Formats: sequence, structure tokens, C-alpha cells
Amino acid sequence: MANQLTTYDRVSRLNHWVVACLIIGLLASGLALDMVLEGAAKAPVRNVHKAVGLAVLVLGTWRVVWRLMQGFVAPLQHDWQVKAAHWAHVILLVGIVVMPVSGVVMSYFGGHSIGFFGLFTIPGGPKIVVINEIAGTLHAVMGKVMIATLLLHVLGAIKHHVLDKDDTLKRMIGRA
Ligand code: HEM
Ligand code: HEM
Repeated sequence: MANQLTTYDRVSRLNHWVVACLIIGLLASGLALDMVLEGAAKAPVRNVHKAVGLAVLVLGTWRVVWRLMQGFVAPLQHDWQVKAAHWAHVILLVGIVVMPVSGVVMSYFGGHSIGFFGLFTIPGGPKIVVINEIAGTLHAVMGKVMIATLLLHVLGAIKHHVLDKDDTLKRMIGRA
């Protein structure tokens, strides 16, 4: 992939922060559904989780396509951390597509409908347990992988900003 860009354009920055906010909300609500909420308290959170996840299916796919079309931005430093950061970006980009797709497949083949804030509803499909379970496992595993990667990603951004005092964070917020 060409590696000639030196900073993030306006579209890339908007894509990054919009999808980042939605994904952080989805990872948190997913964890809450898995580990905190019980019984009837789950339904409203699950409904919003599914609707926002559906939005990420569209916005995230567009965001990943834009990155692939533009190419990656050249890093500001050159050592092993560059490779780590690049792989973290690749994992996050894969997760942005795999998570909503596996969520939709899991729901659909679990026979559950997916509502989009009252605007429209995708009806549930036939119950096919094996597909439902594979998609569910992928959703749960990839979710954990994304959380771990995201922690490193955010720590890396803070390290660049606070310790290295370089423009890594600034160019993602349009200040460099
Ligand atoms: C980027 C998009 C998404 C992210 C980051 C995300 C994240 C998560 C996470 C971390 C979990 C907890 C998994 C576990 O540890 O067991 C979860 C659960 C779940 N997600 Fe998603 N999700 C996304 C999109 C979707 C979509 C589009 C749907 C369906 C339309 C969906 C449906 C579900 C369901 C049904 C659960 C299980 C909830 C329960 O335990 O009752 N997700 N999600
Ligand atoms: C508070 C949270 C976050 C901060 C502070 C942050 C910060 C940054 C910074 C500074 C860069 C530029 C790195 C460089 O130029 O080498 C970047 C790039 C990137 N970030 Fe984040 N990020 C956050 C959340 C997220 C989330 C939630 C995701 C995806 C799930 C994500 C995915 C990416 C990707 C894929 C890139 C590579 C460039 C691109 O395609 O936009 N980030 N992030």
C-alpha cells in the first residue's frame, strides 16, 4: 500500500472520531450486556446496541473503504512501535467491519429482528443454531480483541502526546 500521506484529511478525521465514539459505546454496552445487566434490564440496552451497531455497519464500512482508498498515513517515528501501531490499526479496521457483520448475522440466524430507532426493522430470519453460535463466538472474541487493542492504541496516542511531544494526536484532531 502507498505510504505517502503525511497527515489526516478532514474526512479521515471525521470518520475516525465518529466511528471511534460509536465503537467505544458499543464495546461498553456489549460488555454490560454480557457481564452486568440481567433479565428485563437487558432488552432496551440490547435494542440500542443493535441499532447503533447497524449504523456502524454502514459508517464503518465507508470509513474502512476511505482508508484503503487513501492509503495509510506515514508514522512520525521509525522503530518497532511503528509496526505495533500499524498492526493495531489493521486489527481495529478489521474489527470495525467484522463486529457489525457478525452482530447482524448472529441476530438474523437467531431469529431476532433488528430495529433501527423506530424507522425500520430488519425481520429475524430462520433459526440456524450453528450459524448463530459461530457468529456469536466471533462477536465475543473479536470484541475482546478490540478492547485490548484499543487500550494499547489509546495508551500509544497518550505516550506520543505527553512523552514524545510529537504531532501524532494533533494531526488526528486537525491541529498539525
Ligand atoms: C461495531 C459494532 C459492534 C460492536 C463493537 C459490538 C460489541 C459487542 C460486545 C463487546 C459484546 C459482548 C460480547 C461478549 O463478550 O459476549 C456484544 C454483544 C452483543 N451484540 Fe454487539 N457489537 C457491535 C454490533 C452489533 C450489531 C450490529 C448487533 C446486531 C444487530 C449486535 C448484537 C449483539 C448482541 C445480540 C449481543 C449479545 C447481547 C446479550 O448478551 O444479550 N452487535 N457486542
Ligand atoms: C479516545 C480514543 C482514541 C484516541 C485518543 C485515538 C487516537 C488516534 C490517533 C492519534 C491516531 C493517529 C495515529 C498515527 O498517525 O499513527 C489514530 C489512528 C487510528 N485510530 Fe484511533 N483513537 C481513539 C479511538 C479509536 C477507536 C475506538 C478506533 C476503532 C475502533 C480507532 C481506530 C483507529 C485507526 C484504524 C487509526 C489509523 C488511521 C485511520 O484509519 O483513521 N481509534 N487514533
